Amino acid sequence: MITKAVEIFKNSKSLFVLTGAGISAESGIPTFRGVDGLWKNYSATDLATPQAFQKNPVLVWEWYHWRQGIISKAEPNPAHYALVALEKKMARFLLLTQNVDNLHPRAGSENVLELHGNIFRTRCLACGEIADYQKPPETSSNALPKCTCGGLLRPDVVWFGEAIPQHIWQNSLDFLSRADAALICGTSGIVWPAAAIPEIAQHSNTKTIEINLEPTSVSSIVDVSIQGKAGEVLPKIVAALGQ
Ligand code: OAD
Repeated sequence: MITKAVEIFKNSKSLFVLTGAGISAESGIPTFRGVDGLWKNYSATDLATPQAFQKNPVLVWEWYHWRQGIISKAEPNPAHYALVALEKKMARFLLLTQNVDNLHPRAGSENVLELHGNIFRTRCLACGEIADYQKPPETSSNALPKCTCGGLLRPDVVWFGEAIPQHIWQNSLDFLSRADAALICGTSGIVWPAAAIPEIAQHSNTKTIEINLEPTSVSSIVDVSIQGKAGEVLPKIVAALGQ
C-alpha cells in the first residue's frame, strides 16, 4: 500500500492534505474519539458547543485550559515533519487541518489553513476582538478570561453546531478541485464538512490516500488506505520519494 501511495505522490505536482487529531496523537495530545477521548467523564461533544459554554463557561474553560497545558508541552512529531518535507517536494500544496493545536505551523508547514480555529486565540463575546491567548501560569485553571473591554472571552475555535469559516472552506475546495492527489491523515472522517473531502476529491478525479490506525468511514472510498501510525508511515513515504 505504501508503494502505491509513493507512486501517486511521484506523479503529483499538486497535493491537498487533510489532517485530524490522529496526526498529533504521537505528540501526546489525546484524540477526541479514542479511548483517551474523555475528560472527567465528558466527551468533546458535551463540551465543544455554544450551549455548553452558555450553561457552564467555567467548566468549558477548565477543559480548554487543560488542553492548552498539554499542547503547550507537546512537540511536533515525525508525521508533522514529513508533511513539511512533502510540501517542499510539491509545486502546489495546501494543508487543511481540523486540529487547533498549532503543531503544523510549529513544525514548519507553510501553506496551512485551520478549519476549526486555534486553541491559542480567544474571541471576545462583547466586542468581537480576536487575540492570542495562553493561560497565565498563576491563574487558576477554572478562571474565566476577560477582554480589556470587560467582555467574556471564548476560545477562537469552531464548536459543534457553529459555522466553519466560509473563506477557508471555499479556498480548500478551490484547491482540491485542481489537486492531483489528496492525503487524509489521522481523522475519523465523522465530522462534517471535512468528512466530505474524499468524495469531493473523487468527483474531480483527484487520487485519494488515507493514513489511519484503523479503518474509517472513508476507507472504502479512497484509492489507497494505509493502516498504521502516521508518524511511522509518512516518514517512510518521504524517504521512498527521495530527494
Ligand atoms: P477523532 O478523535 O474523531 O479521530 C482521530 C482519528 O485518528 C481516529 O480515526 C484514529 O484511528 C486516528 N489515529 C489515532 N492515532 C493515530 C496515529 N498515530 N496515526 C494515524 N491515525 C491515528 O479526531 P478528528 O477526526 O480530528 O472538532 O475529529 C474531528 C473533529 O471532531 C475535531 O476537530 C473536533 C472533534 O470533536 C471540534 O472540536 C469542533
